[in-house]
Amino acid sequence: MKILVTGASGLLGLNLGLRMHERYSIVGQDRGKLASTPFELVRADLLDPSACSRLIDSVRPDAVIHTAALANLESCENDPATSRLLNAEVPSLLAESCTKHDIQLIHISTDAVFDGTKEGIYTEEDTPNPAGVYAATKLQGEENVLSIYPQAAVARVNFFGWSLSGTRSLSEFFFNTLGAGKTCNGFDDVYFCPMFVGDLADTLIGMLEKSLSGTYHVVGSRAITKYEFGQEIAKVFGFDAGLINPISVSDSGLTAKRSNNLRLSIHKLSTALGREIPDFSTGLTQFYTQYKQGYPQKMRSYQQE
Ligand SMILES: NC(=O)c1ccc[n+]([C@@H]2O[C@H](COP(=O)([O-])OP(=O)(O)OC[C@H]3O[C@@H](n4cnc5c(N)ncnc54)[C@H](OP(=O)(O)O)[C@@H]3O)[C@@H](O)[C@H]2O)c1
Repeated sequence: MKILVTGASGLLGLNLGLRMHERYSIVGQDRGKLASTPFELVRADLLDPSACSRLIDSVRPDAVIHTAALANLESCENDPATSRLLNAEVPSLLAESCTKHDIQLIHISTDAVFDGTKEGIYTEEDTPNPAGVYAATKLQGEENVLSIYPQAAVARVNFFGWSLSGTRSLSEFFFNTLGAGKTCNGFDDVYFCPMFVGDLADTLIGMLEKSLSGTYHVVGSRAITKYEFGQEIAKVFGFDAGLINPISVSDSGLTAKRSNNLRLSIHKLSTALGREIPDFSTGLTQFYTQYKQGYPQKMRSYQQE
């Protein structure tokens, strides 16, 4: 199977490409940040209105995993126009090209489409109510994709792992800060269901192999607060967990609104795939093993000079 991965330089895209290139023919779209990856690269700026159709016409993949996005919440608040173009309009263009050529599409969305006010766990049946520009434009992207191409799958994700910059993920934030012996804050009132990016890559491939369509929550099977997640990182790496101050997200000073309950049910996904969905704990072990094996340095070796 030939899989086009958009956003190949991103946290998800690069991990996906590196994990899957030996089993699948991976073509990664990037904007020139990458070089010498063990999978093929094709350069494109998806803000160019003809880029999606040209990309699909030239690569002719069997499947597309669309990870590219403006995924930084603060950047989206500061530049809502680009956020709308990249997170809502580009998915439409990609869906149009995929439906025209009958190409499987997984569109990556976010757990943040929910405002967090529900008591309990969100299922795919719950009505989203996005809290900020990022979440609103991502929700619009989901709706655009499924109205143009109902056979597509939308994966609402939340994940952690090593990135090209070394600073993209929450796991790297805690690793970098605690590893330097510095104090930091951890939100003790924000629940989420993080999934290790390697497990996410495996799960997305499983979704392609089963030809799933419609909306799925693709997150870890266990909820945890961001503060507790930091403590788990400290434990795995042998750092001082006391360096993390538990605080409320409302005291954080962050400008973009964040939901404080992102507990998502994975029942629909687990049933469709016919298997258990891993939680963050086994993923943290893999995250640590990758560190010991020099994976973060290997990743950076693919950065264009
Ligand atoms: N990280 C999380 O925990 C999380 C949580 C929920 C949902 N998500 C979703 O998961 C997906 C992947 O997130 P991520 O964390 O991997 O994001 P990321 O690390 O910020 O990567 C974003 C990717 O999009 C690319 N991109 C940005 N503008 C582009 C453009 N104009 N044309 C082509 N490519 C462009 C970036 O390329 P450059 O490197 O060239 O900028 C990069 O490869 C996104 O859809 C995001 O909304 C992520």
